Amino acid sequence: MITHNDRLLLGPGPSNPYPEAMEALGRPVLGHLDPDYLALMTEISGQLRTVFGTANELTLPVSGTGSAGMEACLASLLQPGEKAIVGVNGYFGERLCEVAARGGAEVVRVEAPWGRALDPEALLGARRTHPDARLLAVVAAETSTGVRNDVAPLGALRDTDTLLLVDAVTALGGSELRVDDWGIDACYSASQKCLGAPSGLAPVTLSARAVQVMQARVVPVRSFYLDLGLLQEYYLASTPRYHHTASSTLAYALHAGLARLLAEGREAVWARHAAIGARLQDALRKRGFGLVAQDGHRLAQLTATTLPEGLDEAPLRRALLQRYGIEVGGGLGEFAGRAWRIGLMGHAARERSVVALLGAVDELLG
Ligand SMILES: Cc1ncc(COP(=O)(O)O)c(C=O)c1O
Repeated sequence: MITHNDRLLLGPGPSNPYPEAMEALGRPVLGHLDPDYLALMTEISGQLRTVFGTANELTLPVSGTGSAGMEACLASLLQPGEKAIVGVNGYFGERLCEVAARGGAEVVRVEAPWGRALDPEALLGARRTHPDARLLAVVAAETSTGVRNDVAPLGALRDTDTLLLVDAVTALGGSELRVDDWGIDACYSASQKCLGAPSGLAPVTLSARAVQVMQARVVPVRSFYLDLGLLQEYYLASTPRYHHTASSTLAYALHAGLARLLAEGREAVWARHAAIGARLQDALRKRGFGLVAQDGHRLAQLTATTLPEGLDEAPLRRALLQRYGIEVGGGLGEFAGRAWRIGLMGHAARERSVVALLGAVDELLG
């Protein structure tokens, strides 16, 4: 029999949705062309513009998780044989390379060690070496290590023909991100982290020049489902056209999460995440835990932490879940088996999460 356990979700995502988002899941289901559903999508586009910090017309939630956002952007902007420069300093930078390569792109990697931030100068230098690159992609908040990569300096790409693509799956709603001010051409996120909704929708925004690149394609987008041009015609055209049976249930939940975020205010939400993350990181250091991300580039919403010498991470993580109902994530890549990834995101970015986690850790470590 399946039991319905109530978890405190302090892993790398999903986080606990806001109560309003869970409540919204119970609303009556609407058809995917119902005027009420389309009006809801128009409102969500408006909310997302504010959260992304953009005036981009093409701003919408793609059906699917964050990976769908990643695939939609790469598939819609890259044609086979085109070049993509990708910053790689963690698991999700690697995934960007893999998705771009599977789509037939030629990938140019610019690397930094896991735990260190990417050097924007090295990325811009790679673009000077490869001036024909169609896009340059970075992960703003690398969930595998808790590293914040600098995005603003990459706005220099504005003066070139190379588009700037940013993964904001963990960043959006959790730390500063300014799509228009930073010259970002394509950005995607996910509903289940700092936006405070369940997983299933991937907010995406494209600048006017990214839309032009998409419209000038010679080879059709290989994915019908994730073709952002077709999705724009579905959701945002004056006479919407059937494309797929999108979920009004998830849309209601995302709308409620975004409404809660916007009622608090974008900058206030960033400040809340910053304060609660700093509190956790101080407390971990005092207990002999290490911080994976370099100083000055540490995220607040996701902390990758190494355990004190001699402690076995997996049984402790299991005990946190089984005895206290608290989920934290294990380490990835070179940190597998010796680190935890602790998320304080969206509704879970508050004092009671930190107090509960530290209380449980103290009890387990005796
Ligand atoms: C930075 C980053 N990019 C992409 C993804 C993929 O998102 P999803 O698991 O929602 O498909 C994640 C998921 O954790 C992520 O943290």
